[in-house]
Amino acid sequence: PATSLQDIVGHAKEYGFVFPSSEIYDGLQAVYDYGQNGVELKNNLKAVWWKAMTQLNDNIVGIDASIFMHPLTWKASGHVDGFSDPMIDNKDSKKRYRADQLLEAKAEQYEADGQPEKAQALLAEMGRLLSAENLEAVRELIIAENIKCAVSGTANWTEVRQFNLMFSTQVGSVAEDSSLIYLRPETAQGIFVNFLNVQKSGRMKVPFGIAQIGKAFRNEIVARQFTFRMREFEQMEMQFFIRPGTEMDWYNKWKEARMKFHVAIGLPAESLKFHDHEKLAHYANAAVDIEYKFPFGFREMEGIHSRTDFDLRNHQELSKKKLQYFDADLDENGKPYGNYIPYVVETSVGADRLFLATFCNAYTKETVGEGDSEKERTYLKLHPALAPFKVAVLPLVKKDGLAEKAQAITNSLKSAFRTTYDDGAAIGKRYTRQDLIGTPFCVVVDYQTMEDDTVTIRHRDSMKQERVAISALKEKIGYEVSI
Ligand code: GAP
Repeated sequence: PATSLQDIVGHAKEYGFVFPSSEIYDGLQAVYDYGQNGVELKNNLKAVWWKAMTQLNDNIVGIDASIFMHPLTWKASGHVDGFSDPMIDNKDSKKRYRADQLLEAKAEQYEADGQPEKAQALLAEMGRLLSAENLEAVRELIIAENIKCAVSGTANWTEVRQFNLMFSTQVGSVAEDSSLIYLRPETAQGIFVNFLNVQKSGRMKVPFGIAQIGKAFRNEIVARQFTFRMREFEQMEMQFFIRPGTEMDWYNKWKEARMKFHVAIGLPAESLKFHDHEKLAHYANAAVDIEYKFPFGFREMEGIHSRTDFDLRNHQELSKKKLQYFDADLDENGKPYGNYIPYVVETSVGADRLFLATFCNAYTKETVGEGDSEKERTYLKLHPALAPFKVAVLPLVKKDGLAEKAQAITNSLKSAFRTTYDDGAAIGKRYTRQDLIGTPFCVVVDYQTMEDDTVTIRHRDSMKQERVAISALKEKIGYEVSI
């Protein structure tokens, strides 16, 4: 049977990957904590991304900018004026919805009922009204379509209002001195405002990129689907600064590079697809999503956007600091390209969505054995380089020096790989424990080990065992992601 989101949520909690935040207080909507295994998987994903960007590309460097930024940043970026969702409340249940999501759900229903033209027409009308900011007509459309609240069952709706997604707070202790600042809704702006600092101090030449991993915050109205849409989440973004006019080339290059990355970390090509944006964000002249097939359908995991000089130009205007680059390369007439504000192609992937995709893809249930010994087995088929533990060392029994030998092997491996030691139960049970958290290799110390310094490696996916010398272990299990 297909994996459901409940399976994923349950497994993630039971085996220490993801917990609801503040669970003892019944949790906080759309906020989650990563547990002892989740943090390892997430860190491994971040490390692979960081390496793919900053280590494997000579012309990409990283930064780590602050979450708090000067308030004018968000004026320049367009977020103060334009980063909002149309929201509507049901007067009876007081439940709040995103107006566009109500209409999209209706369109999906038309689609499911075999009326694709009606679905298309509804989406087109919605797009038209939202771009024209005609919120009254959006409300009328919701009423005309007889869309009801799932809780109250009525179509008694308030007006539609734009709701800004940025969280704000105050800096400064005294009321008069304090000023409103925002928690960044994207990490990208920390890169834009540092563009010249990095370019000058690093003597970077266009084309070059700046990468960053960090938290971002959005007051999402509708928070659903586990860690897919959170109010506090993590982004991995890279802004690639280029000469104007070359943006489509770079856009296509990054599209391909990013798709290759996802396949390299183990996501199957058939579970991934590109989805071109019909409606472009306020800053983009071309945009595509890489979608992953989550248990609830194909959804956005990463965005690749051609942002032109929108951000740098607006920052130049508001900060009154020149954000130009001098390009000494010669054009076709033999003249230097000279001064310009670079264009930007950005790649932006949510660390939490990449985590969720990796986790969903890894979650495997299969029937093994035959006849009376047939049973169901659950394991996480994670790429060995991503698993929370790379290897578990298990003495077959605790006595006769086997435990000490296994401890010594653990100690010899643990500076190279995350290694766990377990002597707690029957060997089969210990394999299962490792399967459930995705450990790709179990090294078993038995009586033969005491004689000839060999061990067995039990492979998670095939459950096959092979005998190897202890001295060959590091080489045997040292997989990396090849990008
Ligand atoms: N700088 C461009 C930008 O922020 P975006 O499409 O709004 O673009 C990029 O976000 C990525 O960030 C998304 O593809 C998604 O992976 C992740 N993301 C956005 N909102 C999120 C949320 N509420 N929860 C988890 N991840 C989110």
